[in-house]
Amino acid sequence: MTEKLIKNGILTGHELRQTVLHKIELGILNAKKDGFCEKEAFLTACKARFGSIVSIVDWDFARSNGDVNSFPGNIVSALQYARIKSGKNILDLYDVENPKAWEGVIDDVLSDPNQCQFFCDNFWRSPMVSHPMRALPLQYLLPFHFGNAGIKGIDIGAGAHVAFPMLNSKPFLSFEFEGDKSLRQLRNPINLLLAVGVDKQKRDIDWARVGYYPGKRTYQRLELLNTAYERAISDATRFPVVCASVFEPKLYSMIAEVDPTSSPKYDFVFTSFIRHQLGKHPSIQEKFISTIAQIVREEGIWVDIGRELLDTGWHPYDGWAVEVYRMNSGQMHSIGIPFILTADQARVKKAIPEYFLG
Ligand SMILES: C[S@@+](CC[C@H](N)C(=O)[O-])C[C@H]1O[C@@H](n2cnc3c(N)ncnc32)[C@H](O)[C@@H]1O
Repeated sequence: MTEKLIKNGILTGHELRQTVLHKIELGILNAKKDGFCEKEAFLTACKARFGSIVSIVDWDFARSNGDVNSFPGNIVSALQYARIKSGKNILDLYDVENPKAWEGVIDDVLSDPNQCQFFCDNFWRSPMVSHPMRALPLQYLLPFHFGNAGIKGIDIGAGAHVAFPMLNSKPFLSFEFEGDKSLRQLRNPINLLLAVGVDKQKRDIDWARVGYYPGKRTYQRLELLNTAYERAISDATRFPVVCASVFEPKLYSMIAEVDPTSSPKYDFVFTSFIRHQLGKHPSIQEKFISTIAQIVREEGIWVDIGRELLDTGWHPYDGWAVEVYRMNSGQMHSIGIPFILTADQARVKKAIPEYFLG
């Protein structure tokens, strides 16, 4: 077994295990801060059972920073997926509140050969946590920037591609920010001609369903995910999916195959919590941004969420910036942060109306 850091943030063996354990510990802190007691209980149990997890998972394959950055979310996804795929219910996990009970669930999965196989097979798979409410800022931003012109956009790292289909839905058009009604006037229906979802993983709605940490708040999230998925598949021509990495050399021609319009450029690109999964190395991030710059038309916009996860010395955040860039003379320029998401990344916490004054 190679017990060393190989190169360029590639991890294996002991360092890999320690990094994953560290991510679990950070997750516990984060859950505590967020008051998410079921998540805290689950991760506390993962820490207690880490020895058993270590003994059945393959740690010898070299993993990139990008692979490791999405922990500890991978564990909750792999565990629930093992249950779903073995014909078990996951809803009964939403009420499990204490770490001892969670240790029992982990023991049950690891001791059953069928569930254990699913758990191991998916342990390193990128989570596909898809929160439709993350697209709510677009309900304001798109009318603000484009009026009622017909527009088309791309969601890169779209997961189950359930964010765009919620645009113009009742929950989006009736959403109210606490205390501040000034944005109501912007909340107009969007003339959305085409909204493509690109993801390196094949769309697997079960994999998206298991991305949420079990808890009482999760019932509602799962319900919204199911609603958004129904909307997406009932209008599949307007919301097509492309299964490709953002770094796929044939990406543009693959997108063109699902786009009946003649223009290769898009009015807007949306990226939400993909960047940490790519890896933090500046060269990877630069390549990512240059891909986006090739897709967005002049005067078009890029809306990005999750950049903070690229910071070194990551620590739990109070909120997550929704940052907007505009394409000018072939370059993306940051033009402001109009919204902040909640610490649990699932909803909009507040709007910054000054953005819309400029
Ligand atoms: C945490 S999920 C976020 C999903 C969705 N954007 C949201 O915010 O609800 C990140 C997604 O990025 C995708 N992803 C990671 N690396 C990618 C790449 N190189 N190309 C395309 N998608 C990628 C993953 O498969 C995963 O579905």
